[in-house]
Amino acid sequence: MAKEDQYRNPQGEEGRKVIEEMNEHHRELTSWGLGHISAVKDISPSRILDIGCGGGNCLRMLAVRYPKAHAEGIDISEESVKATLERNSAYHSWGRIDARVASVSDLPFPEETFDLITAIETYFFWPDLGKDVAHAVSRLRKGGIMLIVSEQYPNGRNDEQIRERNAKYGMKVLPNEEVAGVMEKAGLKTQTFTNEDKNWVAFVGVRD
Ligand SMILES: C[S@@+](CC[C@H](N)C(=O)[O-])C[C@H]1O[C@@H](n2cnc3c(N)ncnc32)[C@H](O)[C@@H]1O
Repeated sequence: MAKEDQYRNPQGEEGRKVIEEMNEHHRELTSWGLGHISAVKDISPSRILDIGCGGGNCLRMLAVRYPKAHAEGIDISEESVKATLERNSAYHSWGRIDARVASVSDLPFPEETFDLITAIETYFFWPDLGKDVAHAVSRLRKGGIMLIVSEQYPNGRNDEQIRERNAKYGMKVLPNEEVAGVMEKAGLKTQTFTNEDKNWVAFVGVRD
């Protein structure tokens, strides 16, 4: 498998290396993204889902930030799920963190299960953003929050670079208005936050 494909679905030893790199590389971004939840709504979630959990860094931050919550991750990559459970073995043994292989398009949970759903650096790999967000929203309780975070967005100056990266990594990084529009259509009242220096974006949607 080419290294470029390891970000979309990490496999084997090389996939494990990419997962470890992402855990480091996305730490500040993830912390920045999670910080916007309380700016929108004060919550004390009991069930949290992290979609595309990668190496489990976000799950760990969520478990620390929300000590009463049970945080679950799903990822299409077996290697990601293994890495998540290894990295969080103590939290797993305390019943605070779990993870399993699944796709965002077919979430193995009943409707209205979660108070909070997070998705860090993954939406652009999903097969059908509109359908997949709507499906995720059906797993949110009323008043629940969905957070989508991306390390890049087209800002008028980097559009060509984004097009090139989209082609190289098999991604669909979209304009912020499109992502927010998809979330609104799925029933989320959505606010968009950007860090213009870093070109980061966080979308926080509240289910009506
Ligand atoms: C760039 S990594 C980000 C991982 C982690 N969220 C982080 O910030 O470090 C993208 C992750 O999304 C997962 N992924 C891609 N497509 C997916 C899908 N359709 N359903 C669930 N997970 C998916 C990949 O396997 C990979 O672990």
